[in-house]
Amino acid sequence: MSLDLTDAERLAHLDLEQLQQLVGLVEHDSSTDPFPVTGWDAIVWNVGNATQSAHFFMSAYAMDLVAYSGPETGNRDHHAYVLASGAVRFVLKGGVDPDSPVMDHHRRHGDGIVDIALEVPDVDTCVNQARAQGATILEEPHDVTDEHGTVRMAAIATYGETRHSLIDRSRYSGPYLPGYVARSSTMKRPEGAPKRIFQALDHVVGNVELGRMDEWVDFYRRVMGFTNMAEFVGDDIATEYSALMSKVVASGNHRVKFPLNEPAIAKKKSQIDEYLEFYGGPGAQHLALATNDILATVDWLRDAGIEFLATPDSYYTDPALRERIGEVRVPIEELQQRGILVDRDEDGYLLQIFTKPIGDRPTVFFELIERHGSLGFGKGNFQALFEAIEREQARRGNF
Ligand SMILES: [Fe+2]
Repeated sequence: MSLDLTDAERLAHLDLEQLQQLVGLVEHDSSTDPFPVTGWDAIVWNVGNATQSAHFFMSAYAMDLVAYSGPETGNRDHHAYVLASGAVRFVLKGGVDPDSPVMDHHRRHGDGIVDIALEVPDVDTCVNQARAQGATILEEPHDVTDEHGTVRMAAIATYGETRHSLIDRSRYSGPYLPGYVARSSTMKRPEGAPKRIFQALDHVVGNVELGRMDEWVDFYRRVMGFTNMAEFVGDDIATEYSALMSKVVASGNHRVKFPLNEPAIAKKKSQIDEYLEFYGGPGAQHLALATNDILATVDWLRDAGIEFLATPDSYYTDPALRERIGEVRVPIEELQQRGILVDRDEDGYLLQIFTKPIGDRPTVFFELIERHGSLGFGKGNFQALFEAIEREQARRGNF
């Protein structure tokens, strides 16, 4: 059994106990795992303006600029800014060359996640397993080297135009990958500001086509040896007009968790249909950022101008909610003031809140999550949440 910190977690001064709490990390014997996954490596975004998106993630989400690639470093195709917060790494790419594939992708999908890169101990083993299970290999295993060492990497295809790069950086000490240089920002945080507002990535949700959720659940089970987590949702989270189905798969150590959604038939267009229409196909819907103080995080984000989905006051005054959630670490009024949702299961509870879409299209958004024992995803909140989402959809004229 191994329950070790990744390098990124160690650098972020996280400890195991904290991670067990933050993201529900569990012990896992990787010696019999056909596709061992250490954890997340990076979330790679294509955006319309990486220079300004980087500023947004630094100023609003309190991330630190750590590395860069662009024309000045010999990359004439695009800008790429590497940002970090705790163990989380984002890479933001924006086209410079008018013929850049980054721009083509952006024309089709808008701002979005192109690569959910995973850190693995053995790239070749993973690719052999993926190939044997019929996965599409986008990049064969290969080494890339610079003065900081060697990274072994490959990439496989997943839903839509999304990929999983598989990265072994155990022989590399550079700031990100060969081709990138270390870079920091002159941006100053106000006095007394938190060092960071989130520490780890909890889960990445994929929206897939109608009727294909089980196929993708099966993909992660067969190809990556992921297992189903208990929580799944069908008709029971449909509102009268909008419905989805959802199942969750996770890596052995639960560091990597992928809920997968498909739209379900309902009277009106579901939020998943809206995503599929505006993203131009399947893709990553939301990223859940784990924080150990969601109240401070939400206060910071609101002060930075970030907008969240509104939760009706009736959610908090409903006696059924108080009955369902019992005691949590703060008075419910504190949660109500900030619109934070609560869910409880047999293992504990969680606090969560969802932002509005972060780009121009009604597609990708963030969740902030603070776990206290619960390994769930907020199933009990879906009804309250969807009603809030539908109000937003109606305001955009898409409902
Ligand atoms: Fe979520």
